[in-house]
Amino acid sequence: MVLVTGGAGYIGTHTCVQLIEAGYEIIIFDNFSNATQEAIKRVEAIVKQKVPYLEGDIRSDSDLEKVFTQYDITSVIHFAGLKAVGESVAEPLKYYDNNVYGTLVLCEVMNRHNCKKIVFSSSATVYGDPHTTPITEDFPLSATNPYGKTKLFIEEILRDLYNADNSWDIALLRYFNPVGAHSSGTIGEDPNGIPNNLMPFIAQTAVGKRERLSVFGGDYDTTDGTGVRDYIHVTDLAAGHLKALAYFDNNKGLLTVNLGTGKGYSVLEMIQAFETASQKTVPYAIVERRPGDIAACFADPAYAKKVLDWEATKSIEEMCEDTWRWQSNNPNGYK
Ligand code: NAD
Ligand code: UD1
Repeated sequence: MVLVTGGAGYIGTHTCVQLIEAGYEIIIFDNFSNATQEAIKRVEAIVKQKVPYLEGDIRSDSDLEKVFTQYDITSVIHFAGLKAVGESVAEPLKYYDNNVYGTLVLCEVMNRHNCKKIVFSSSATVYGDPHTTPITEDFPLSATNPYGKTKLFIEEILRDLYNADNSWDIALLRYFNPVGAHSSGTIGEDPNGIPNNLMPFIAQTAVGKRERLSVFGGDYDTTDGTGVRDYIHVTDLAAGHLKALAYFDNNKGLLTVNLGTGKGYSVLEMIQAFETASQKTVPYAIVERRPGDIAACFADPAYAKKVLDWEATKSIEEMCEDTWRWQSNNPNGYK
């Protein structure tokens, strides 16, 4: 059985749908700090079966002990974590505690139960400000904010763990920018309060919840002066997790892979694509750069193709259409 920590969240729910559809038995473990039970109900409606879950915290040895005692867990997909960059600058201890300490407790309990297979949600943020693009997995690592540092530290911890005991199988999946939603329009990204990320902000502006999008910087050294990112459809991303699990059916080791499309789109291109998909206008104004932002970031996805036989399949049009279906059907998210 696969334990999915943070399985009630944005990427977690989409991955759970695919795991169940592929015949995996799963158990979701989530403290619902950034998710709702309603999201799990929606997953159940998609897969037409009950989806087991336990409410618990990865920082609690006893919460995890309960899951490992009750179920025969053979691998873990570890999504649970906090992810707001700005909040991590304001409250660094909260991030180190939740993300780093939580992962330590999880690994301890896994060790105790001789479950040594983990797929970890890392991020392209571990490349810091890359010296060039596209980014390959051997680029130097750095982090500019506490959130990014938690990803970097957890990667280091998992590498050390593997070096100490290579009976572990560890996949470090470095996501680029996840967007989009399940094609049913019933599950999607449901940020708390004002979204920090571009796509949810665009979507909420198109649906009328926000007056205007601020485009952070128009003077970057990019095609149109706005920031360029590698947006990847969340269902493509989810599929990467199934590939990583399947990889360990026939291979052992420590795997570090970019999950991106290899294509970069500017903020203005994203606005344009979203307007076309939604047939709505997205009012915007170009403002100052956001501190800590980089000009361009996109993956070299060749290694993922080679080692996992995985590649992103969905276009920017589908990413926008699916985001719009979710946003317009659920203007207030799961509430
Ligand atoms: P999310 O907030 O929707 O999902 C995270 C889930 O973890 C939530 O359901 C939350 O309730 C749960 N959680 C948090 N702390 C927990 C704890 N201590 N114990 C148990 N559950 C806990 O975020 P997401 O976008 O689905 O991201 C999933 C993972 O991917 C995170 O680790 C995130 O840092 C990473 N990631 C996300 C992005 C992105 O842009 N969404 C990019 C790169 C990496
Ligand atoms: C951000 C985080 C990164 C994290 C990722 C998760 C920062 C500095 N980086 O990445 O650590 O892993 O989210 O999804 O926060 N933009 C606007 N207006 C907005 C929002 C964004 O113009 O209201 C621009 C940004 O300047 C950037 C692009 O849109 O050029 C994408 O921004 P965002 O969605 O926040 O992602 P990242 O900055 O790439």
